Amino acid sequence: MSDLRTHIEQLVRQALQELPGLSSLEPARSEPPSGPLPAPPGAPVLRFGKRVPLVAANWKMNQLSASARAFLTALEGHDRLGVQTVICAPHVLLPVLAAARRQADLVLGAQNFYPEPAGAFTGEHSLDMLADAGAGAVIIGHSERRTLFGEADALVARKLSTAVARGFMPIFCIGENLAERQAGATFRVLRNQLVAGLSGLLPPFPEPERLVFAYEPIWAIGTGLTATAEQAQEAISFVRERLAEKFSYAYAEKVRVLYGGSANEKNAAELAAKPDIDGFLVGNASLQAATFAAIIARTAASKGRP
Ligand code: 13P
Repeated sequence: MSDLRTHIEQLVRQALQELPGLSSLEPARSEPPSGPLPAPPGAPVLRFGKRVPLVAANWKMNQLSASARAFLTALEGHDRLGVQTVICAPHVLLPVLAAARRQADLVLGAQNFYPEPAGAFTGEHSLDMLADAGAGAVIIGHSERRTLFGEADALVARKLSTAVARGFMPIFCIGENLAERQAGATFRVLRNQLVAGLSGLLPPFPEPERLVFAYEPIWAIGTGLTATAEQAQEAISFVRERLAEKFSYAYAEKVRVLYGGSANEKNAAELAAKPDIDGFLVGNASLQAATFAAIIARTAASKGRP
C-alpha cells in the first residue's frame, strides 16, 4: 500500500516538472477577512445593553442652510433624555450641520448614496464623501427611492452590504402599500423585502446596535394616516422574528426597529409604548425642532427614560 502511494507521489512530482509553469503555481490563497471597516468618524457611539431608543429625522428634500442651522441650535437646547438622535439631511447640508454641531452625539445621516467607492457616476455621492461631510448613518430602501427613482431590491441589497462594510449605520426601510395591506399581503411583502435586502449581508455581521430597520407602511407616509400602535407592533415584531431567522434571537433582540409614517408628537407616546417599537423615522414632523424634540421626549417617556 505504501509502495503504491510512493509510486503515485513520484508520478505526480514528475508530471509537475514536465508541465511548464505548473510546478510554480502558488497554493490558493484564502480570501482576506471581509469584516466591517472601522466606523467613520461621524458614526454613532454604540451603547450596549437594553435597546437604546432612536429617533431619526428624514428631512427629505427640505431645509436650506439657514433653517438647518437654526434647527440644530434649537434642538441642542432640548434634553434628548438618552434617545439616540439622527438627522438625515440633504447631502449639501451635511457640512453645514457638521460645522454648526456642538454635541457630537447628535448623529448626522444621509438619505442616499451610490455603492461604489469612486468613478464615473454623474450626480452621485460615495460613502467616503458622506463620511467626509460628517455623516455616520444613511437611509436605504426608502419607499420614495424605490417608487420614484426605481431602486430595485438588488441595488438596495448592495447598498446595505456596502454601508455595513464601510461602518455606517444603515436605516433600512421596508413597508407595504395600501393595495398590499388590503389584499392581506403585508407580511409577505415585508418578508420578501427583508430576504432580498439582507441577501448581501454575510458574516461577520456588524454589531447589532449598528443595524437599524424602519417599518414604514407606504399608505401612512405623508398622508396623515398612521398605523395603529397594534398594527405597527404586529409588523415590527414580525420583522424582528425574520431578523432572528437571518441572524439569531440574541442578535435580533439588540437590533433597533423604528416606525415611520405620519409619526408626530401626538401619536409617538402610544406607538413607543409598544415593546418592539424602538423609536421613529420622522418626515414632516421632523422639520421643526420643537415638534421633533417633542417626539424625542414622548419616546423617552414611553420607554421609561432616563
Ligand atoms: P412622514 O413622517 O412625513 O409621513 O414621512 C415618513 C417617512 O417617509 C420617513 O422616512
